[in-house]
Amino acid sequence: MEQTLVLLKPSAVQRGLVGEIINRFEKRGLRLAGMKMMQLTDEILDEHYAHLREKPFFRTLKDSMMATPVIACCLEGVEAVQVVRAMTGSTNGRNADPGTIRGDYCMSNQQNIVHTSDSPENAAAELSRFFKPEEIFQYELATLKFTYSVDEK
Ligand code: TYD
Repeated sequence: MEQTLVLLKPSAVQRGLVGEIINRFEKRGLRLAGMKMMQLTDEILDEHYAHLREKPFFRTLKDSMMATPVIACCLEGVEAVQVVRAMTGSTNGRNADPGTIRGDYCMSNQQNIVHTSDSPENAAAELSRFFKPEEIFQYELATLKFTYSVDEK
């Protein structure tokens, strides 16, 4: 099983979309292995968005991520990184396909509702940035055997 990070951004918190979006992941069959509300800081965002440091939108991006607390989630499933990424949609909500989170809930390139890890390597690094080991819970969903075939897990 693979784990991935989802951040419900301030745009999701302010627009009252937190429950609806978590519900999408739950309904898909992903296991919620960790979840918490946190206020992001300049320091953690410098690390998290290090690849965007030189971009002209870096300052407004960081400000947008600190506007309210965010909800951080650790989701688990078979190939969870690519499944969650596909559910997320293109970065710019205006280009995102209908049926994706961004395509259904946003109109913006920056106020785009969720952050989701884009590779298993980044997911591992991001999960350890946002969660302590004891904040990730190992329990088995009772529905597991109806979610995957015996040879898929
Ligand atoms: P990026 O890692 O390229 O996209 P994604 O979130 O889809 O993995 O960019 C990170 C965030 O930077 C993105 O969610 C919103 C912000 N951003 C802008 O504000 N303007 C832009 O032109 C781009 C490309 C991203």
